[in-house]
Amino acid sequence: MNIETLVRENIRKLKPYSAARHEFSGTASVFLDANENAHDVHGGALNRYPDPLQAAIKLQLSELKNVQPESIFLGNGSDEAIDLLFRIFCEPGVDEAIICPPTYGMYQVQADIHATPVKKVLLDENFGLRTGAIMEAVSPKSKLLFLCSPNNPTGNLMAVNDIEFLLKNFPGIVVVDEAYIDFAKGAASWAERLAEFPNLVVLQTLSKAWALAGARLGMAFASPAIIDLLNKVKYPYNLGLPTQKAVLAVLDKTDIRPVIDGILKEKEKLEEALHQFELVEKIYPSDANFLLVKMQNSALVFNALKERGVIVRDRSKEPLCDGCLRITIGTEAENDLLLKQLNIVAKFIGRPNKISPAK
Ligand SMILES: Cc1ncc(COP(=O)(O)O)c(C=O)c1O
Repeated sequence: MNIETLVRENIRKLKPYSAARHEFSGTASVFLDANENAHDVHGGALNRYPDPLQAAIKLQLSELKNVQPESIFLGNGSDEAIDLLFRIFCEPGVDEAIICPPTYGMYQVQADIHATPVKKVLLDENFGLRTGAIMEAVSPKSKLLFLCSPNNPTGNLMAVNDIEFLLKNFPGIVVVDEAYIDFAKGAASWAERLAEFPNLVVLQTLSKAWALAGARLGMAFASPAIIDLLNKVKYPYNLGLPTQKAVLAVLDKTDIRPVIDGILKEKEKLEEALHQFELVEKIYPSDANFLLVKMQNSALVFNALKERGVIVRDRSKEPLCDGCLRITIGTEAENDLLLKQLNIVAKFIGRPNKISPAK
């Protein structure tokens, strides 16, 4: 597949902004090229523009993820990469994207921002991909296909065979969003198979397992051709110096596995405890750090919990998610508090007026 033919003409022809620091690579003692304030007034070199291509972080991530630095794009959250993919591949009002609800809401939001028509192919009743229906939805204008694995909000990994089939048959870019992959025990990342599929973009993030949501760092792994396009279109200095420093300070010094294992243990505990509630009808299998829970009176439970200071995510309006709340696995204390409040709510569920506000 020739990726160039998928790219919007204006982007193909685009002469990107050349940042001052792009044009120089070497050692110098005086930088008078970027109209910065030469005085480090606040300390920490915040007076200087950061590395536009974040080379140091990419080197660390390259080892951690076993992906070549030239196959890594870094953005202000993986949401930035989603935005840029629309900018690169979808002519507004013309080119189409395919999404598979129920799934992460930003694919639709970004499509709407870019005036990109979206075809929705629902997951099946087990939240698996309907590959045949996806291929039937394909038109000559289909440019992006978003797959989320493990999927938000359903929590399940998508079948390897299905993703492989779509990578081989979808005539555009296949985005596999792996925001929750670090919680999926034993699952391999699709980033390992970049060399096989020139149309594959894998998204990951430091916002979930890595406990760095506040830093804002998302990754896209893809062929160097696609990474070059992402770099061409992004803001020149898209990751601030504080983010770059914070990430560099922790990435190769932190063993995040024990933290992840702790969250997975808590997930098991919470799942067991939730099963004891009569109003819990079903807890879907989860490869992520959250549970999708089907409940009786879900709207009432959601609101009563909210009034008692416990916020979960109401997904009951999503297709195939009738009566479902999505519950993130918190700390042990947070999960205990959720259960305590749910107990109180459950006792009064037939008599909603009696649910007293939290003390
Ligand atoms: C599936 C999925 N992809 C991407 C993101 C966004 O992550 P980031 O914080 O890197 O923008 C989220 C956040 O909830 C998500 O659930």
